[in-house]
Formats: sequence, C-alpha cells, structure tokens
Amino acid sequence: MAGKQKKALTYTLPEEFHVFGFSRDLLAWYDGQKRDLPWRINRDPYRIWVSEIMLQQTRVETVKPYYQNFMEKFPTVEALADAPEEEVLKAWEGLGYYSRARNLQSAAREVKTRYGGVVPDKPDEIATLKGIGPYTAGAILSIAYEKPEPAVDGNVMRVFSRLLLMTDDIAKPATRIKVEHLVRQVIPEGRAGDFNQALMELGALVCVPRTPQCLTCPVFDYCLARREGVQEELPVKGKAKPPRPVNLQVAVVRRGDRVLMNRRPEQGLLAGMWQFPMVETDADTPSVKQQTLLDGLSSRFGQDAEVLEPLMEVQHTFSHLHWNMEVWLCDWIDGGELPSDARFVTLEEISSLALPVAHQKIVEKLKSDR
Ligand code: ADE
Repeated sequence: MAGKQKKALTYTLPEEFHVFGFSRDLLAWYDGQKRDLPWRINRDPYRIWVSEIMLQQTRVETVKPYYQNFMEKFPTVEALADAPEEEVLKAWEGLGYYSRARNLQSAAREVKTRYGGVVPDKPDEIATLKGIGPYTAGAILSIAYEKPEPAVDGNVMRVFSRLLLMTDDIAKPATRIKVEHLVRQVIPEGRAGDFNQALMELGALVCVPRTPQCLTCPVFDYCLARREGVQEELPVKGKAKPPRPVNLQVAVVRRGDRVLMNRRPEQGLLAGMWQFPMVETDADTPSVKQQTLLDGLSSRFGQDAEVLEPLMEVQHTFSHLHWNMEVWLCDWIDGGELPSDARFVTLEEISSLALPVAHQKIVEKLKSDR
C-alpha cells in the first residue's frame, strides 16, 4: 500500500485582506494603546515565559499581583530551579491549574542544567520543555527573541475567525494550525513580538467575545465578518462537555488546637497540595455520608473521630469537574501514627502550606469562627 502523502498546507489570505496595511494599522494602534503590564518592562525571556504560563488560563488582572510576587521570590531561572517545590506551589496558590507551576519549575531545572540557564531560542529546543506548547513557544520566541513565529491562543483565533469570516470550529486542533499558517503571512519583519501581542491585545480590549467594539477597532476596514454583520456569531466553537459533578464529604478533625490535613498525590489534579481529608460518595442520607467519611478517616489515616456538626458547604468548578463539598466538624477520638502524607497542624501552620482554593475557604471559616 502506498504511504500516506502529507498534504501541504496552503491557506492563503483572501484578496480583500491587504497584508501590509493590516499589520501597519494594527501595530500603530498597539503602539498608542497598549497596556502597561509588568511583563512588558523588558524582553527577559524568563520573565516572558513566566507571564505566558500564568496567563494561559487566567485573566490579566488576576495575574498581575501573582506575577509581581513570583518575580520577587524567583527572579531568575536559577532561583526558580533551586527553590523547594512547596514554595513554588505556595506562590501559585489561588491561580489554579497547579500543574502549570510544577511543569514550569521542572522546565526551569532543565534550562539550568541543559542550557546553562538561558531559555533556548530555537523552536525545536524550546518545544521540548515541559508545559511549553505551540502557543507558549511562539510567544516566547517572538516577544523575547523577535523570531517570526505565530502565538495563537483563544483570543487570536477569535480575532482571525472574524477578520476572515472563518466558520471553522476553534475547538478543533486543525483550526489552530490553520490560523497559525495565516498569522505567519502577516507577521511584519522585525516586530514579531509586538505584532503577536497586538493581536492578543485586540482580542482582549476590542474584539471581545460577546460584544465586539467594532466602532473603535483599528482594523475595522479589513474585517470580513463586520462587513457581513456577523461578528457576534463568530467564532464557531464546538460545545465542551459540562464539568462532571463529584460529591465529596470533607472532615475537619480537631485535636486540641490542631486539625488533620493530608497531602494530595504527586500526580493528577492539584498534585502535591494540602487539603482536609475527604471522601467521594453519592450517598444522600446524612448518616450514611458521615459514616463513609469516618470509615475513610479510619482506613486511610488510622484515626477514629466523631462528627459534631455540619460546618459549611463549598462548591468549586474546575474545567472538567465540579466539586460539591459538604464539610463536617469532627472531634478526634483516638489513633495511631499518621502516614507520611498526613499531619495535625495549627491554623497558623496551615498558612505556610499550599492549599486548593476550595480548602482555603474552609480555613477562612475556621478562622472567623474562632
Ligand atoms: N495574554 C497572553 N499573553 C499576553 C501578553 N503577552 N500580553 C497580554 N495578554 C496576554
């Protein structure tokens, strides 16, 4: 059987789209309107790298204070590579998607040992680093090193869907590849980094998801969707699955002025973070829920406890899961030595541990009830 022929990608811009004018007008707007953001003060590849990882699933305004704090704590690749993981997770606490922080640190260790602390400037080298996908690679290469590489995120896909009236589903990987090909054709020489950031900025400030501000758009004249009046119907995005509900019973086990906490496994959701012990159950009567929780404490941690009262309910949504947490105040009765991933800690000690946001809410409640 003949080998499958790899089809050359030949997406070209439509005639109406004037490449030179588009890039010039967009850059002129960016030069005048760009936001003063802490990762734009210089072109240090490490600073840009950290900002791009933080910005992956988090809004600019949320990222700003975390970014400042992170750069003070870990100002260089070496500082990050040499820090204890616990400290890195602590600095990331509240930003979510913690595997980003773990991957960032393991990639920093790789950059330190393999590349002498210098972030690589070659697409095939940078792409091998943990947590660096095509978007982040393009962003670092263009912003820090001025390489003519596209950096296509959700904002840029929205902008291009509208500009070119593309009805491709932006949830499909093939659409990102198509947009990357198109962006490559419009990156102006010597200004790749600003151009990519200008596209992101346009998506964040003007070409926003629900109500695009076409009247103030610097590239209004080039936009095919606006010409047809369909800008609000684009982009086309296939439906993501709704988050799966997970019903959890959570124990705050008090022993004197301490409470029982355990560390989550090294792999998977919220890897390595600390939490109040919890069990998953779909039981719907309070007595069965409580018994399941107490059985879990006994089998998992070798501790016997009794439930005193319900403390609170907490909801937390991740991209793929929705936690419904019922939290019970419990008193410790008896128990043997704890496994190495569990400890009784004071509320003061908890503040030095990295906790998921849902569990921080429980700590706040305990502090306010004191
Ligand atoms: N979102 C992702 N990267 C960004 C950047 N460099 N500036 C503004 N918003 C962004």
